[in-house]
Amino acid sequence: MQLNINDKIYNIDQIDSNRKLLWVLRDELGLIGTRYGCGAGFCGACTVHINGQPTRSCITPMSAIAPDDTIRTVEGLSENGNLHPVQQAFIELQVPQCGWCMSGQMMSATALLEQTHNPSREDIRSAMKSNYCRCGCYHRIALAVERAAKLMP
Ligand code: FES
Ligand code: FES
Repeated sequence: MQLNINDKIYNIDQIDSNRKLLWVLRDELGLIGTRYGCGAGFCGACTVHINGQPTRSCITPMSAIAPDDTIRTVEGLSENGNLHPVQQAFIELQVPQCGWCMSGQMMSATALLEQTHNPSREDIRSAMKSNYCRCGCYHRIALAVERAAKLMP
């Protein structure tokens, strides 16, 4: 099976079609930026993009991925050594505490900003409401998404 992840083609042999994308990313491909939280589709820690849509990789079986799908993980946000505006903003505003939820938060934030260039606070709340942060960084996350919107090209 071929996977297009972060604009790179990976060839994977003998993958169980029921295996979840999260574990292929982490265990087979070493892309460990995508995190395991609840494992049940609730917390958003495992969020990646499939064809630009935020997707919970912990509940996405490999059988759901089509050959021409494009997958983006947090490792694919930066380009040519430059941080993505969302990454810049999260650092600038010192958003993370433990950091566990952050790759999922940034993937959801990026998907939002690619679809809505100047989101309202309500847009941000709505898009991010299913990304849980057990450290309670929600206010700084919202501020960082607003900041990233200004940094986006
Ligand atoms: S680890 Fe996937 S939603 Fe929680
Ligand atoms: S920073 Fe700790 S869970 Fe979000």
